[in-house]
Amino acid sequence: MTQLIESIAALRAALEPTRRAGRTIGLVPTMGALHAGHVALIERARAECNVVVVTLFVNRLQFNQAADFELYPRTVESDLAACAAAGADYLFAPPQQEMYPDEPRTFVEVEELTEGLCGAFRPGHFRGVATVCAKLFHIAGADRAYFGEKDFQQLAVIRRVVRDLNFPLEIVGVPTVRELDGLAMSSRNARLGAAERAAAVVLWRAIEAARRAFADGERGAAELLAVARRPLDAEPLARTEYVELVDPETLAPLERVEGESRLALAVWIGDVRLIDNAPLK
Ligand code: PAJ
Repeated sequence: MTQLIESIAALRAALEPTRRAGRTIGLVPTMGALHAGHVALIERARAECNVVVVTLFVNRLQFNQAADFELYPRTVESDLAACAAAGADYLFAPPQQEMYPDEPRTFVEVEELTEGLCGAFRPGHFRGVATVCAKLFHIAGADRAYFGEKDFQQLAVIRRVVRDLNFPLEIVGVPTVRELDGLAMSSRNARLGAAERAAAVVLWRAIEAARRAFADGERGAAELLAVARRPLDAEPLARTEYVELVDPETLAPLERVEGESRLALAVWIGDVRLIDNAPLK
């Protein structure tokens, strides 16, 4: 059974005995519309922590467009069932008023890491993410928080917030869960029509193409990116926002792949923006 909690005070009260007993709290921040990707995070937390708290909050601070915020799916009932099936103890689903009783005037801003990739196309997005995560970390007092590699820049940004601001918790990155054809699971996939859903597999095809070239010995970023772009350019329903090859920690663009690397891309399929990433290996 997962207990639904809607107020900050009630969550703190529920977690107090756990904290006092020195038992560990695992936090899984989400915006709901839970799918197998979210469930992988919850299961990992379940395996590693005494108490698991999933949060469901559609954070308007991180949306660039009001319409996108309004349209975001809200499915608390089925999310609660998914949390129960995955073994979460609490689902913290605060109303907007509880998280932002006044217009916020304090924000967490991460420099440099947020300038490239998605940050270049979504001004203010990572400020909103970092700010709400800082609030959730304070509210839950968690020992570990779980984030998906699917949102690779987000994971890097959160790691940096925790390091720079001395949050006493460990950030755990969880590998991307994919559909059978390779499409990364996302709440936004539900908005794809049938033809668009078929076209959406090009993100994974682009990654695979670059990986094949890498396996064949190619190390130049320009060459690897050109290979990744080929399937994207050939798909009429896809409009590529960016494809980049970056250092996985600094997110700085690479010229050659010598050590670790991450291929990251954002692609519009119709009016749905999809992202994906993977290491080249
Ligand atoms: P949301 O998009 O709901 O994602 C919640 C968590 O699930 C994130 O850590 C995300 O990386 C992870 N996730 C999503 N799809 C995944 C997949 N296919 N495989 C593995 N993990 C996946 O990301 C957010 O919400 C918000 O920005 C949030 C961190 C909650 C702050 O508002």
